[in-house]
Amino acid sequence: MTTASDLIALEERYGADNYHPLDVVISRAEGCWVWDVEGKRYMDCLAAYSAVNQGHCHPRLVKALVGQACRVALTSRAFRNDQLGPFCQEICELTGYQRMLPMNSGAEAVETAIKAARKWGYTVKGIPENQAEILVFDGNFHGRTTTIVSFSADPDYRFGFGPFTPGFKILPYGDPAAVKAAMNPNVAAILVEPIQGEAGIVSPPEGFLRELRALTTEHRALLMVDEIQSGLGRTGRLFCFEHEAVRPDVVIIGKALSGGMYPVSAVLADDEVMGVFHPGEHGSTFGGNPLGAAVAREALKVIVDEKLVDRSAELGDYFLAKLRAVSSRHVVEIRGKGLWIGIVLSPEAGGARRFCEALQQRGMLCKETHHTVIRIAPPLVITREEVDWAVEQLADVLTTL
Ligand SMILES: Cc1ncc(COP(=O)(O)O)c(C=O)c1O
Repeated sequence: MTTASDLIALEERYGADNYHPLDVVISRAEGCWVWDVEGKRYMDCLAAYSAVNQGHCHPRLVKALVGQACRVALTSRAFRNDQLGPFCQEICELTGYQRMLPMNSGAEAVETAIKAARKWGYTVKGIPENQAEILVFDGNFHGRTTTIVSFSADPDYRFGFGPFTPGFKILPYGDPAAVKAAMNPNVAAILVEPIQGEAGIVSPPEGFLRELRALTTEHRALLMVDEIQSGLGRTGRLFCFEHEAVRPDVVIIGKALSGGMYPVSAVLADDEVMGVFHPGEHGSTFGGNPLGAAVAREALKVIVDEKLVDRSAELGDYFLAKLRAVSSRHVVEIRGKGLWIGIVLSPEAGGARRFCEALQQRGMLCKETHHTVIRIAPPLVITREEVDWAVEQLADVLTTL
């Protein structure tokens, strides 16, 4: 039998060394649980960075995937398929936007939004050619393409990858005065995460998104919200921006849009913005393919039918309250919204990694973020009893290590 260490050795020998995973080799999954090659069961408290909000191998998603794969998987956009139209209609009706542009990875959807904003800036707002600016924020994470890392503030994401794409200005996250000062007629858009996931579940001060909405409206720029990780129920609302009752001009989604079955991402906007794209100007061979569209249609229906948004709000509050009741000398802060929680450890705690490894021993998978934060983001199908179990494991490692 091939053991976990054999499989890890293969990956280390033949794979590029661009990740630092926990050494658990998963071969099967269902709901909130995964099993390693030796048959040990773990609770998945990362949910593939919120891609598996609907739970692993959701039977309805498996059925949609297999059923569609047996009919037609890919047509390219040279021809039409019978899934894309209904997908566009259903997602627009669910979210209240007039149009959707489908892509595959999250980074491609962010790139799409950047292109839309620039083109809108030139053709609708009247910004002089090649002068468009997009305002972004310190601590941002929007993906890994060359353009996106051009405006990352993290040296690891940038080192060795220049020259970078110009046209972005990085501002402090949560500081409306800095945004106000940066506003000028060449600003086409602000691109923001409503909560910064990769930075360690960092929320801006209350009212920040409302301030961004007011400033973009006043200066005729687009407010573009990256909901790739925060959206589709994760924070107890369909979109995280709903907590501040704003309506962005552009919404970027991915991850849970396919419930983890298949990469599907999308950009949502109204006619004025989406109207900048004409045939041939933007696209992707797989974007809008029938397999992805069929899975995404079902993934959205599962979120609605199983009331996963309400569940995230209710169990998230419950999880946070129980965790905050644990007294540990290592914990500086516990923060989050919905089923998206960051446990911030003190610098003396010795890093979040050793806590994640201890949790792994106890059958719970979490991931450290920026060395000092334990990130918790279970599938939204988690039950109250499973939350109780997760808190027990966390309390155990936070009080005994
Ligand atoms: C907020 C945000 N934007 C964009 C991305 C990039 O998505 P992908 O990895 O699918 O390209 C991520 C991935 O973690 C993300 O969290």
